[in-house]
Amino acid sequence: MSNILDFINTNRDQYVDELKHYLAIPSISALPQHAGDVRRCAEWTADEMRRIGLQNVRLIDTPGNPVVYGEWLGAPGAPTILFYGHYDVQPVDPVELWESPPFEATVREGEIYARGAADDKGQVFMHFKAVEAHLKQNGRLPVNMKFLIEGEEEVGSEHLDDFVRQHKDDLAADVVVISDSPMFDRGVPSICYGLRGLVYVQIDVRGTKSDLHSGSFGGAVANPAMALAQILAQMKDRGGRIKVPGFYDDVRPLGEAERAEFRKLPFHETRYRKELGAPKLFGERGYTTLERVWGRPTFEVNGLLAGFTGEGAKTVIPAVAMAKVSMRLVPNQEPDKTADLFEAYLKKITPRTVELKLTRMHGGRPWMTELDNPFVQAAGRAIERGFGQRPVFNREGGSIPVVSTFQQVLGLPSVLFGVGLPDENAHAPNEKLDLGNFHNGIIASAFLYEEIGQLATVTA
Ligand code: BES
Ligand code: ZN
Repeated sequence: MSNILDFINTNRDQYVDELKHYLAIPSISALPQHAGDVRRCAEWTADEMRRIGLQNVRLIDTPGNPVVYGEWLGAPGAPTILFYGHYDVQPVDPVELWESPPFEATVREGEIYARGAADDKGQVFMHFKAVEAHLKQNGRLPVNMKFLIEGEEEVGSEHLDDFVRQHKDDLAADVVVISDSPMFDRGVPSICYGLRGLVYVQIDVRGTKSDLHSGSFGGAVANPAMALAQILAQMKDRGGRIKVPGFYDDVRPLGEAERAEFRKLPFHETRYRKELGAPKLFGERGYTTLERVWGRPTFEVNGLLAGFTGEGAKTVIPAVAMAKVSMRLVPNQEPDKTADLFEAYLKKITPRTVELKLTRMHGGRPWMTELDNPFVQAAGRAIERGFGQRPVFNREGGSIPVVSTFQQVLGLPSVLFGVGLPDENAHAPNEKLDLGNFHNGIIASAFLYEEIGQLATVTA
């Protein structure tokens, strides 16, 4: 391994220059005007995979954005890693809050700033460089690897479940490796063993066929903005508990042992609150902040639109009001069932004075893995070798929908080894990745392949 480490250390700065090219492509999957950029990014990903020495690299079309596939299968008898990541990124608005342009990656104080730096191009690239170091120095990898890099993660991975089902045999492996999450804290590397699921819906409320003069008609009809506000206000009680009947029925309670582990983590609540700029934290009564974010479901309003919001005043009763809302789910909640419960409650509480339309947008199941899994343990050793420190085990509040599909369809465990940071500004202005973590992450990934290569395969 020492020749591989030398190679990685020698090329440290070169990697950052290369990553800048990847980050320059505005592969925003949510915006149709970027469809060409998304495709160009898929092609860039494929070219890079060929450059580092992967084989059988190709774009595979889906009804949405292409999946990029590549492999190296020259280690008979050794386990096979299915590596998953995404080359699409989130929109950049509000763009005026970026201190440097989102698609001109800029290094400031040891961090690289750009959309996709942490989520997820930087972390995918880290694995590319680890593979390259092995292949360039040794001509081989210590494991077999299949790479599946998708372009729709940020819009709910709508076509990926079908893709995985259709390519079930091609994707056969022993374990999935993913780097698409933050580590617990700066200086505290971690392995994530749980993700929340998601249900995302849009609510449209209509009061009248057109906007109305609020003097001539105010008092005669219901105001849809008001109706929507009243609907949303009935989603949670004052203690932060969701009021949708049946919502908690399938929630697996947090066990005492797990709660005790959470309490041992170096979490500083006041620092956390101050970093967020919140006057006071708020969440479900009876749970700590980490428990609320990792182990309990939530309901959130993601966007709200109604009436006149420009400068000045306009006396109007809006015809329509709209909200985008989502619920994060924990084991064993099912997205479809949760959406049904939500819809039933919404219909029940919507006043007859307005018309309601509900559109289900996307969803994903929650996921959790066992900590005594040998692949998780191998990742622990690799991280210790890369970061000089044992990782802690954490859950996360975010979602990666395909992880539970890998479990259900391919029967595979996943190892989530992320090197982002909680303040990485994912999905926000000034997204960044710490370059020290990027570098250590390349080393840890190189060790990870070696560690997994020493385990017994279950597929051979
Ligand atoms: N990288 C995140 C997932 C993530 C976030 C994991 C925080 C752990 C902690 C991923 O790219 C993401 O943002 N996923 C979406 C999924 C959604 C669109 C279905 C999310 O969580 O909102
Ligand atoms: Zn994301």
